[in-house]
Amino acid sequence: MHQFLDRLFDLSGVDLSGYGKRALYRRVRSLISGEGLSGIGELSDRIRDDPRFLSHVLDRLMLRVTTMFRDPGFFRLFRERVVPLLRTYPYPRLWVAGCSTGQEAYSLAILLREEGLYDRCRIYATDLNEVVLEQARSGVLPLAALEEYEQNYRAAGGIRALSDYYMRGTTSAVIDPAVLDRIAVFRHDLARDASFNEFHVIFCRNVLMYFDEALRYRVYQLLSDSLVRLGFLGLGQSESLHLTRHESDYELLSRRHRLYRKAC
Ligand SMILES: C[S@@+](CC[C@H](N)C(=O)[O-])C[C@H]1O[C@@H](n2cnc3c(N)ncnc32)[C@H](O)[C@@H]1O
Repeated sequence: MHQFLDRLFDLSGVDLSGYGKRALYRRVRSLISGEGLSGIGELSDRIRDDPRFLSHVLDRLMLRVTTMFRDPGFFRLFRERVVPLLRTYPYPRLWVAGCSTGQEAYSLAILLREEGLYDRCRIYATDLNEVVLEQARSGVLPLAALEEYEQNYRAAGGIRALSDYYMRGTTSAVIDPAVLDRIAVFRHDLARDASFNEFHVIFCRNVLMYFDEALRYRVYQLLSDSLVRLGFLGLGQSESLHLTRHESDYELLSRRHRLYRKAC
């Protein structure tokens, strides 16, 4: 496994050594059996010999599950508690770390538009996986998921119909370019890269749960270094600062929705 991860890193620059071992090994085993390979040796040879297979393997190992307005209560709370304070900044900067195919950044952009704030905001949406970033830039949404997106949007306190923000075609839907307008999408590796700006809001939701403890600590430090004082941090529902050395640096705004505010 170590040799496989080393080779993966040499070939792609993607370092999965800080991922939770048990879940990662499970995904590797399922990949081997799904591809009908004899074992990890053959998997290792295939990624060396076939660049397309390499990118397929990376895509399978880095989970990309996402949806619009995921955990709608989180977005409702964000509207109520964070937006009024964001209004006090001339140019709020927001970072969606581990943005997957972009739905979380689109949701944030829609919410800010509805609050009349979007024109002076900038959203930075980053991920490690180039495949999902390409999709995030395109604004394409799967038709099969639109119903769920609509429900989440309404539960999150959306004030129009979500369909106002996308054009529906026969095979897919595309987000309105005005929503994409102030979103910059680019590659950033939470495991290796440094901070690249100071933000008023950071979402890093449903990413840390895949990391081992050492990597989680690295990322908590990075997020802390990247937030302005009194800035806001949103984590996923199974992620928490509780019992970490950063816990005392934040005020917990909602335990249920994992929303924090950095102390003064
Ligand atoms: C399950 S998705 C979560 C997407 C979104 N944040 C949400 O909550 O719906 C996890 C994302 O984290 C990304 N990711 C994993 N390791 C990363 C790393 N080291 N740096 C940046 N992104 C990473 C994956 O590529 C994937 O797109």
